[in-house]
Amino acid sequence: MKLSLSQSGLTETRADALILGRHADEARLSPALASVDEALGGLLTRVMAAEKFEGKPGQLTHVHADGRRLRAPRVLVAGLGPKKGSNAEVVRRAASAAARRARDLGARSAAAYLAADGLPARARAQATVEGAVLGTYRFDRYLKEKSPKQLEALTVVEPEGRQRAAAGEGMRAGEVWAAATCLTRDLVNEPANVVTPSFLARRAQEIAKAGRLGLKILERADCAKLGMGAYIGVAQGSEEPPKFIHLSYTPKGRARRRVAIIGKGITFDSGGLDLKPADGMYRMKDDMAGAATVLGLFSALPKLRLPVEVHGLIAATENMPSGTAQRPGDVVRAMNGLTIEIGNTDAEGRLTLADALAYAVREIKPSEMIDLATLTGAIVIALGQGMSGVFASDDPLAGRVLGAAEAAGEKMWRMPLHDEYKDGLKSDIADLNNISSQRGGGAIVAGLFMRDFTDGKPWAHLDIAGTAFSERELPLGPKGGTGVGVRTLLAYLSAVAGRR
Ligand code: BES
Ligand code: MN
Ligand code: ZN
Repeated sequence: MKLSLSQSGLTETRADALILGRHADEARLSPALASVDEALGGLLTRVMAAEKFEGKPGQLTHVHADGRRLRAPRVLVAGLGPKKGSNAEVVRRAASAAARRARDLGARSAAAYLAADGLPARARAQATVEGAVLGTYRFDRYLKEKSPKQLEALTVVEPEGRQRAAAGEGMRAGEVWAAATCLTRDLVNEPANVVTPSFLARRAQEIAKAGRLGLKILERADCAKLGMGAYIGVAQGSEEPPKFIHLSYTPKGRARRRVAIIGKGITFDSGGLDLKPADGMYRMKDDMAGAATVLGLFSALPKLRLPVEVHGLIAATENMPSGTAQRPGDVVRAMNGLTIEIGNTDAEGRLTLADALAYAVREIKPSEMIDLATLTGAIVIALGQGMSGVFASDDPLAGRVLGAAEAAGEKMWRMPLHDEYKDGLKSDIADLNNISSQRGGGAIVAGLFMRDFTDGKPWAHLDIAGTAFSERELPLGPKGGTGVGVRTLLAYLSAVAGRR
C-alpha cells in the first residue's frame, strides 16, 4: 500500500474514499465531520440519523458524495466508541473496518482522519496505517482469480501543521510493523509442503541479507555436536532435514540489553508415532507460527534501528512418524545435560524449545528470553482463541510483556507456573518426562517443563496455540494466520530501548 501524509483540509483531500471517525458520546459533530457534512449539504447527518449510527466501535456507515462540494466521491464514518478509554486499538479497528469497506466499494485510494480522543498524532498515524494495512491483508497467491478490488493507496490526514513530523514518524512505524505482521501471516498461511525447515532457513537468509543481520544456520550434525538431543530426536522421523536458525541484530553503538526471542518452528506436526487424529492434524501447518513471528520481527528490526541487541532462534523441524521416528519411551539428552523420557511424541514443541532455550543460555547469555509457541491445546481450552497465555519466571519481565501487548492491542493473559504441578513431570528412568502423569493444566505443565532449560534467567513464554491462526474473520484481518506477537515484540523492544 502506497502511503502519504496530507495536511490539507478534509474537503480539499482527494481520494476515492474519505474516512472519518466519530465517538459514541459526541453530542455535536466534531469540526472535521461538520465541515464535510456542510460540503455534503447535511447528507451525513441525515444518513447517520436514519441509520441510527451511534459511533459504537465497529459501526460503519457511508455516503456517496456525487456532485457535491467534496474531492472524494465517498465518505465513510467509523465508530470510535466512547471518548473515555479510547486508545490506539480503537483507531486500528476503525481504520481496518473502513479500509475494508472502502476497498469492497471499489475504492483504490483512501484518505483517513481518525482522531480518537486524547490519542497523540504519532500514535494515531501509526494505528491508522496498521489498521488499514492489516485489515485489507489477503493471502491469495494460490488463487487463479484474484479479486480486482485492491486498496492501493492510503493518505493519512493530519490537519495540525505542528504535528507533521510526529505523524510522519507514526506512519513509518505503522508501515514497518504492519509489513512485518503480514510477512508472518504469509508464512503461517503457506502450506507445509512449501514451508519446510529448509524454506524457513532460506527465508531467514533473505531477511538477513536484506537487513545486514547476523545469521547462523546449524545443520543436524552441528546440533548433535552441541548436544541438542531433544531437538534432534523430534527431527529424526522426517525426510526433511532440520535447520537451527540463529539470527542476530546488533545496533550501532552501545546496546541497552541483549534479548533472545525464540519461536517454535514445527513446520508440520503430525504428532509423530503418537499420531494425531485427522481433525487435530488438519491445521498443523501453523505449528511454526512462533518461528514466523521471529522472522517477521527480524524483517522489521533493521528498519527501526533500536539500541537493543536481539537474537532470534528457531529450531525448525517437522514432527513425522516413520521407521526412523522417535518412539514413545525413548530417552534423549538436551543441551543442558538433562535427560528426558518421551512420554508422548506429540509433546514435541517443548523438546525443540528446550534445546533452543539451553542454546540461548549458553551461546548468547541474554538479559532476558521470550519464546512464542503454538504449544498446547490446553491454552485454547483455558483462554479460548482471543487471548495468548503469558508464563514468566520473572515478574518485571511479565509486566513489560503484558504492557507491550496492551500497547499493540494484542490480548494476552498471565498464567501461573504453579510449582506443585512439576511432580507430574517425573520419570522413573530420566530427569524429566515430556508429559505429565497428572490430569489437567496442560499449558502450565508445558511451561514448567521448559523452565528447566532456562537456567534461572528471566524468561517469558507466550503460548499462542489459540491466537496464531483464526478460523473466522477478525477486526484486524481475515481468516488464517494472524501474525500475533510481532507487534507485541516490536512494542516490547521499542519500550526497553526507551522509545515508544
Ligand atoms: N502443536 C500442538 C499444540 C496445538 C494444539 C496447537 C492445537 C494448536 C492447536 C502441540 O505440539 C501438541 O500436540 N500438544 C499436545 C501436548 C500433549 C500431547 C501433552 C496437546 O496440546 O494436545
Ligand atoms: Mn504436537
Ligand atoms: Zn506442536
